[in-house]
Amino acid sequence: MFGWQRADVDHSGKGGSEKSRILMLHALANIEQYAIDLAWDIIARFAEFEVDGERLPVDFFLDWAKVAEDEAKHYSLLSKRLVEMGSYFGAHTVHAGLWESASDTAESLLSRIAIIHLVAEARGVDMNPLTMAKLRAAEDAESTRILEIIHADEITHVTTGHRWFSWICHKRGLDPVQQFRLEVSNNFHGDLKGPFNVEDRAKAGLTPDFYTDLRGHHQRREDRQAAYAHGGGKSGGDEHLHPRLT
Ligand SMILES: [Fe+2]
Ligand SMILES: [Fe+2]
Repeated sequence: MFGWQRADVDHSGKGGSEKSRILMLHALANIEQYAIDLAWDIIARFAEFEVDGERLPVDFFLDWAKVAEDEAKHYSLLSKRLVEMGSYFGAHTVHAGLWESASDTAESLLSRIAIIHLVAEARGVDMNPLTMAKLRAAEDAESTRILEIIHADEITHVTTGHRWFSWICHKRGLDPVQQFRLEVSNNFHGDLKGPFNVEDRAKAGLTPDFYTDLRGHHQRREDRQAAYAHGGGKSGGDEHLHPRLT
């Protein structure tokens, strides 16, 4: 799962109204659905990627197949929960922000891992405990249980991203921290914003030197055109990275 869109939630109730929880779970299901595609995409798109003249080891592909399996499980849990709550996946607007970022990073495996798995998935790891606390406050035990499963898995996905990003860097004689910061600067737009889940990020290998005081300068082509047309542009930042139950 990844953080990607701020859901259009209402603000009633200390844990969010049922409608706000449905919208949030729907936004998460949207993300999980793309996460399935992205896990298979990294396998297929970079199948012939070479480091030092050698193809990637089979463990690379097995790791991402496990991520794909997890993401399918997450989507299934969330879509089933939506039905239990009287809704269904597709009842609300979805978006393709995650896929757009995947398109932007289609030419580079290091860029892809950095932006999708070490920025977006790590943002999910930041946000999940906050979401779980609000679900508990709303006494929504089943949704809380699902988020707990998702959160535990997502830490392992960031671990997978960190593992292979670092493996490629070491093979190429690059420093993983410096290379990650370069990838974010070139391929992400705006500040990497906290609050960061420092403890769970560290479990995945993402120490603060990776992400502290980091800003991206990338602009999608259409954003540049919009900025030109309107004399402004997007404010940037990652506040849109994850649906929030407020
Ligand atoms: Fe994930
Ligand atoms: Fe997921």
